[in-house]
Amino acid sequence: TESAIYYTVVADEGTSRFFQDGKSTETLGYNGDLLGPMLELPKGKTVVIDTINRLDEPTTFHWHGLVIPAEMDGGPHQAVPAGERAQVRLDIDQEPSTLWFHPHPMGSTAEQVYKGLAGLLYVTDDAQSGLPNEYGVDDIPLIVQDRLFTKNGELDYDAHMNVDGTTGDTILANGAVNTTFDVQTETLRVRLVNGSNARDFDFTLSNGEMMTQIATDGGLLERPVPMKTISLTPGERAEVLIDFSQVKDNVALEADGVPFTTFRIGELDKTSIDMPTSETIELSTDEKIDRQLTLFGMGNMVSINGKTYDPDRIDIEAKRGDTEVWEIENKPDMMGGMTHPFHIHGVQFRIISRDGNPPADHEKGWKDTVAVSPDERVKIELTFTETGTFMYHCHILEHEENGMMGQLKVT
Ligand code: C2O
Ligand code: CU
Ligand code: CU
Repeated sequence: TESAIYYTVVADEGTSRFFQDGKSTETLGYNGDLLGPMLELPKGKTVVIDTINRLDEPTTFHWHGLVIPAEMDGGPHQAVPAGERAQVRLDIDQEPSTLWFHPHPMGSTAEQVYKGLAGLLYVTDDAQSGLPNEYGVDDIPLIVQDRLFTKNGELDYDAHMNVDGTTGDTILANGAVNTTFDVQTETLRVRLVNGSNARDFDFTLSNGEMMTQIATDGGLLERPVPMKTISLTPGERAEVLIDFSQVKDNVALEADGVPFTTFRIGELDKTSIDMPTSETIELSTDEKIDRQLTLFGMGNMVSINGKTYDPDRIDIEAKRGDTEVWEIENKPDMMGGMTHPFHIHGVQFRIISRDGNPPADHEKGWKDTVAVSPDERVKIELTFTETGTFMYHCHILEHEENGMMGQLKVT
């Protein structure tokens, strides 16, 4: 038998300085002052992670997008008390993809993420060796987050003022303002992670060129899709290839039109991309519906099927091995409502339709979080392979805190 891979992840307090003239500010981080490491999870391997909580309050270690039993999932039920540790054992058996980890304790998820607790999980597989995969060289992550700062440069968090989620006017990439990256290869693979509490991002290149989207939350697309704009709601990810072979000047990546990362173009090494193919999946027909979920509300008044989260109530019971179709409806209120990024733990799912229409090509891939806009009905197909009690919720973290979450029990 092959031995497991071991990691240690320590949640701790830290300090960071975001602006040259700003004071340093209190932050939270995994294994450091802010954010966390990338943990590689090779498909087919067992990974053992020692999680240590050095905060002065409870936290959890949630592996967003990982298909694992509920007891390892790090949801609100797996709190690690202040000063304590816990070990999880993860059997990695899913497609290569960009996942992430973050805390999930009831009542303080939004604030802990805002202050800096988030890290990356790469599910890897030799089958993807044709894609750029040299970490930090031709394969780079960008955890994109918006933050609000006081005029002293201190992180400003006040959920009571921002019941629809804390949004900020400063965009951070991997925890830094105005990031610069020296491009060395003609083709760069960028893994975009919307790690914001509440803000949707439209990503574009400053030269107006196309990017090629190759993956969604949970794996490769059926085929690569040229995209001018990549839109991600909180919790969603996309992998893109950017071709710099014809580019002479620096290019910025923009979020909602605001440049936040500059690619500096130097001497570029030739690259040859060999796209691995992903299988076309046959989905259920659009007629079938096994469950209906209605997302509703804004601010403090959010609900799923008219209810708010109750840790003692199971909302959905399902059988392991079953394939179900869920219709998720976003019912607008008098104010018109807002888009809710709907996320489910413990599964990767497929989008069958949006308002009866097949998904766009760039959504034909595994998903764990899906944007549902006001008045829209999104159908997804999911197969339960793991057991236990999992969460599903809106990934606007303050909506989740306000009770926009339910429990799915798989037996
Ligand atoms: Cu990214 Cu329930 O979480
Ligand atoms: Cu999750
Ligand atoms: Cu929401």
